[in-house]
Amino acid sequence: MTSPRSSRLAVLASGHGSNLRALADADRAGELGGSIVLVLSDRPGCGAISIARERGIAVETPDAGCFRTRLEPAAESEWVERLRAHDVDTILLAGFMRILHAPFLDAFPGRVLNIHPSLLPAFPGVDAIHQAWRHGARITGCTVHLVTAGIDEGPILMQSAVPVLDDDSEETLAARIHAAEHALFPRAVRAFLERPFRLEGRRVLWLAPEAP
Ligand code: GRF
Repeated sequence: MTSPRSSRLAVLASGHGSNLRALADADRAGELGGSIVLVLSDRPGCGAISIARERGIAVETPDAGCFRTRLEPAAESEWVERLRAHDVDTILLAGFMRILHAPFLDAFPGRVLNIHPSLLPAFPGVDAIHQAWRHGARITGCTVHLVTAGIDEGPILMQSAVPVLDDDSEETLAARIHAAEHALFPRAVRAFLERPFRLEGRRVLWLAPEAP
């Protein structure tokens, strides 16, 4: 009997790439449940690209088109083609600053994950850390969820809570949230790839315990 093929992951990133680094570290340690085979970025020169190159991960920067917050439809098809060319089955959005639409999401149904720096459904959209800070939240955190057409609305896979301390600045809070993200995202990816679950409405019900 042949063992099931290990998942082929692509990371889409636009920024510093600290989550990509955490995912690549987990991959190297055999703790991700799959292998990162491709990084796609819409921002030539961003930190994520350097991290991919340092790690020897294939990296491509296909044209994103003329819009700022989404891929142009023709570009979206091109991005799907690049992912297919690398036989990718699961997409991880790690600080990817564009909204993905039906053609892309339909190409990888239920296989696109995003990390967001708040406890959703609180503070969706951009500047989530700033939103929580300005709101005076006492607890915030980060969320890994499945991506659906609604922004930051998909079923929640895992969350991690982060306290807001009295002597925090927005910067110290952001650092604590990022540290929580770097632990949560690889853990949630591994669970997604290895643990059976079912969706009840928008609730994710895990059917097996987490690996030790
Ligand atoms: C993270 O805070 C992530 O939650 C958000 O964008 C940020 C990306 O940071 N979606 P990095 O590029 O991974 O360092």
